[in-house]
Amino acid sequence: AAALIESAKKAAAFQAVEDHLSPTDKFVGIGSGSTVVYVVEAIAAKGPSFSANMTFIPTGSQSKGLIRAAGLRLCNLDERPVVDGVSVALDVAFDGADEVDEDLNLIKGGGACLFQEKLVAVAAKKFIAVADSRKQSPRLCTKWKTIPIEVLPLAAPDVLNRLKAMGSPNPVVRSGLPSKAGECVTDNGMWIIDAPFPPLLLPKDLTAEVDGNGKNGAWEIGKLAEELVKLPGIVEIGLFHGFNGVQAVGLGKEFQAQKP
Ligand code: A5P
Repeated sequence: AAALIESAKKAAAFQAVEDHLSPTDKFVGIGSGSTVVYVVEAIAAKGPSFSANMTFIPTGSQSKGLIRAAGLRLCNLDERPVVDGVSVALDVAFDGADEVDEDLNLIKGGGACLFQEKLVAVAAKKFIAVADSRKQSPRLCTKWKTIPIEVLPLAAPDVLNRLKAMGSPNPVVRSGLPSKAGECVTDNGMWIIDAPFPPLLLPKDLTAEVDGNGKNGAWEIGKLAEELVKLPGIVEIGLFHGFNGVQAVGLGKEFQAQKP
């Protein structure tokens, strides 16, 4: 089964690069996780002349390492050229996902890289989520069950309390072996809280009775995201929703639904 999953991830990654990386693209975001390894492999497989005029923007130290090891040109997000007073947009960003709902909202952050991943995603004109079919789900928090939230360590106890008050039954600071004894520290020196929530509603699920404001545990994604980012101490959340131009590629087949 593990080998099948790896081949599905690889197939999705090669398909994503084939369909969504144009030879004329100049700035390309590279996400984090185990699927993105195949994205970089697929780009490298196209040969050095294909990417000779491309510059790759990483989403963390793993991603930086992948770009370097493949011999691709690296540029940090804050170092890209400024044209007419504005940093140039990335043409496209490729990234993995932990869960993808039917409207292509994502949970990300299983690998603790969500903050830089979101910065790179919003800087890109086109965002391609590369996800094998295990990640597909009707509503977020159905399969993955928790929302990764990046917090300032000092604020973690208060954020945990606040999350409980919002209906997350048992939020925890990510920690422990095998990855690391003690708290998982992000590339930004922050911690990750994994906050369980019941399956998140989409705007189309709301009715006169169900307003999605967390009563009876029912949160609509946008309303929950809005409340979470208002909490002091939270630096970013692993909900990626309402993105323009988000597309997902999985199992070599598009399960694409272009956002308005
Ligand atoms: C990293 O923080 C995550 O957002 C990853 O993109 C996500 O966990 C997908 O990882 P895999 O490709 O390893 O499943």
